[in-house]
Amino acid sequence: MEKKLQGQIAIITGASSGIGKGIAKSLSAAGATVVINHPVAATKDAADAVLAEIVADGGVGITYQCDVSKENEVVTMFGDVVKQFGTVDILINNAGLQRDSAFQNMTIDQWNLVLGVNLTGQFLCAREAIREFLRRGMVPEKSKALGKIICISSVHEVIPWGGHANYAASKGGIMLMMKSIAQEFAPKKIRINSICPGAIQTPINKSAWDTPEALNSLLTLIPYQRIGQPEDIGNTAVWLASDDADYVTGASIFVDGGMTLYPGFSTNG
Ligand code: BGC
Repeated sequence: MEKKLQGQIAIITGASSGIGKGIAKSLSAAGATVVINHPVAATKDAADAVLAEIVADGGVGITYQCDVSKENEVVTMFGDVVKQFGTVDILINNAGLQRDSAFQNMTIDQWNLVLGVNLTGQFLCAREAIREFLRRGMVPEKSKALGKIICISSVHEVIPWGGHANYAASKGGIMLMMKSIAQEFAPKKIRINSICPGAIQTPINKSAWDTPEALNSLLTLIPYQRIGQPEDIGNTAVWLASDDADYVTGASIFVDGGMTLYPGFSTNG
């Protein structure tokens, strides 16, 4: 397979499980050196296991603990990665979580945690990545772009989601942060896009697929009639980060099996 990201340094936040893990494996298979970020001491073993899989497949990388909602930790992570590898070429802004609640019962802690990781975390990492891209300058042998940022958003940047107002608000926020900075930095040749996954089979939505009843009910929302897999998102991330997508910036790319196609209207309305 052609290695479209050979020699590029990629930080993938929240890569110890789920979609982040899938993206780390796909970027590594495409030749990138991967920084497998994970949030706390308790996620270290899982991150190490992801790295072990990657190394067994011939890839190169490290794990790095950093809570993306904390400014000092994010600044330190980017500093350390630049010290070790020379620069950062690709940021995958993936770390995200859910704390679901009926709105009238939602606590300020549930609100702040979700907004803090999902939105503030993406702001902090994008800011440090952009500072590094601007500092480093162009390296034409590596990429036509000065740097690439891929924000992992969700179908819920456009689909309202009752019982998950904090999560939907964070994803709606990602959409306009991403488009605003894509506009701001396109003249500098920094490409910034989002991938908006639908239902991908990962721990975050286990209750939606771990029984046949739950899965059947989920499939009524997916015209393509299968749940997504992390590599569906990983493949898209490789393309978006590569020069094949050199004219793509400011786009929200839905990888959702048609979830955003209003499937309820196929027999009604
Ligand atoms: C959420 C999942 C959900 C999916 C589709 C994702 O952003 O994290 O829990 O299954 O959207 O609703």
